Amino acid sequence: MSTSAAPAPQASFPVRRMDFSFADSQKYWWSGNPFMTQFMNNLSSLFPYGEKFFVDSVRGVREQIKDPQLQKDISAFIGQEAMHSKEHATYNEYAEAHGIDLRTLELRIKVLLEWISKFTTKKQRLAATCALEHFTATMAEQLLLREDLTTQIDDEKMYKLWLWHAIEENEHKSVAYDAYQATGGGYWIRTITMALSTVMFIGVIAWFQIDLLRKDGQLFNWKSWGYGLKTLFGPRNGYLTGLIGPYLQYYKPGFHPAQQDTLRLEQRWRTRLGFDG
Ligand SMILES: [Fe+2]
Ligand SMILES: [Fe+2]
Repeated sequence: MSTSAAPAPQASFPVRRMDFSFADSQKYWWSGNPFMTQFMNNLSSLFPYGEKFFVDSVRGVREQIKDPQLQKDISAFIGQEAMHSKEHATYNEYAEAHGIDLRTLELRIKVLLEWISKFTTKKQRLAATCALEHFTATMAEQLLLREDLTTQIDDEKMYKLWLWHAIEENEHKSVAYDAYQATGGGYWIRTITMALSTVMFIGVIAWFQIDLLRKDGQLFNWKSWGYGLKTLFGPRNGYLTGLIGPYLQYYKPGFHPAQQDTLRLEQRWRTRLGFDG
């Protein structure tokens, strides 16, 4: 038996196999509120093709990466994102049962990302992935921190789906960024791409939100809007208001996603959702 070889590195986080079913989920599962439920549906519609784009971007540079630990983490990142895509595609069972057309929104994302891929380099696509992974990680962290938000989720399966996804977005938040740095990615492409991605991300979310509310006959439900806008943009406790600080951190020259330490938060939620034993 040889004792000289160093042990092969393990990935820093696991890939969990999930198999949700949302066929019997109620229509307005966020505190009975149409605006907030459609906002979360809106986010879900971005994932099947958005996360495929992330995986393809990291795969595109993988052969240039020498660090065996990062190679292992890339494999686990691909595994986690593939599982997220799959489960957010399953989410359509819920949407279809309630006449919510998420499929059209998903296909718009597919067309948009295919178009972007035609005129961008591998490095630019990886920078876009880093930018959007910063959005998912910080939005996910807020969700894990904010009991006042998560207790508004009335549906047990939706609760588990969103919090499982939130844990994993934090577990793998450094992988695309480390791949970007390991392949010579620099400050200006990273931050300019973040600025462009922000405009596009906000534009798409606003477009999809109006579309979802209009098709659902809720566009002029002002009470629902009031609740939703306060939940997202309230000056003290808004879900998105809390993201402004972490968003701006990304523009610092020495930024790295791991500077925001979420390890204990992740561990607390893994225990809570029963992922440890
Ligand atoms: Fe994900
Ligand atoms: Fe991710």
